[in-house]
Amino acid sequence: MRVLGIETSCDETAVAVVEGEAGTGPVGRILSNTVYSQLTEHRRFGGVVPEIAARAHLERIDGLVAQALDEAGVGLADLDAIAATGGPGLIGGVMVGVMTAKALAFAHDKPFIAVNHLEGHALSVRLTEPVSFPYLLLLVSGGHCQLLTVRGPGDFTRLGTTIDDAAGECFDKTAKLLGLGFPGGPAVERAAEGGDPRRFALPRPMWRKPGCDFSFSGLKTAVRQTVEKLPADDPRAVADLCASFQRTVGDVFADRCANALARGPSSTLVVAGGVAANVYLRGRLEEVAATHGAKLVAPPVRLCTDNGAMIAWAGVERLRLGQIDALDFRPRPRWPLDPAAANRV
Ligand code: KG4
Ligand code: ZN
Repeated sequence: MRVLGIETSCDETAVAVVEGEAGTGPVGRILSNTVYSQLTEHRRFGGVVPEIAARAHLERIDGLVAQALDEAGVGLADLDAIAATGGPGLIGGVMVGVMTAKALAFAHDKPFIAVNHLEGHALSVRLTEPVSFPYLLLLVSGGHCQLLTVRGPGDFTRLGTTIDDAAGECFDKTAKLLGLGFPGGPAVERAAEGGDPRRFALPRPMWRKPGCDFSFSGLKTAVRQTVEKLPADDPRAVADLCASFQRTVGDVFADRCANALARGPSSTLVVAGGVAANVYLRGRLEEVAATHGAKLVAPPVRLCTDNGAMIAWAGVERLRLGQIDALDFRPRPRWPLDPAAANRV
């Protein structure tokens, strides 16, 4: 099965061609994985501007589809389906991707598959690693922070979620306060290198509380207060604060995952989403998994942040189950993985 995947839900315009059987045995093969990062468009605003993002997606999408097909060495006729992120995300961008995919599917008589962006992250590990269902998933991105049991495409149970901000947002805010630039996650990780993770004591919201929910707003406030008092004549201060911040997030992740792992037998902990690119945090999760007799499996770093390959792969997984969508599918700015849990809050 060969699927073209389009991702336009935030600030990356990404198109990929992936092939695979999506069984528990062989993993997939990435034939091409192109991305245009709209960094320069958004940098001077310190965050993603939805209208600018939508326009930039529109300008780039056709060229990227052509490039992805070209690099994969295939034509549209050689594809088995066209997949696109159908939500959640910035609606203008999602519409660009969905309309492009629908037009290609209609013109070339191929199935169209609307992929939940979060499902793209959730299943991405199976593109490169032979991980079978069910598994425990820590999904940590710019907009989400959740613990879920993943049983298959469209089959998720949410164990916990953030009651305020997402972890990635907290990284971005910290970077902004310290003037480290945008996007914040990689900047904080770089700045933390060689820093003293024990210098600043920051609050660990939810730590040692029962359950699997997260909270980051208190940590964000504490970082802001610490930055305001940071000694100007101390060249180590920024590195120490970034290292302390990362350790704090690591403590919270480890504590929440420990509760999730203790709930039932799960031999595999998967981490996915942009924040999963953080090498220090991966190390912390490896430790907590090992303590509970489980193994941490993570996608390669380049597949953690938004990309087209994860959308194409989710398309492969869905196509295998015959889960295709009608051309009247409407983009969904909100689209919870576990609707039952979303209704509980
Ligand atoms: O999954 P993603 O690319 O987009 C969303 O769906 O939100 O995640 C982006 C988030 C941003 O908040 C970014 O700062 C964070 O992931 N991120 C990182 C790292 N790389 C990206 N956070 C911590 N460490 C990193 N190395
Ligand atoms: Zn994402």
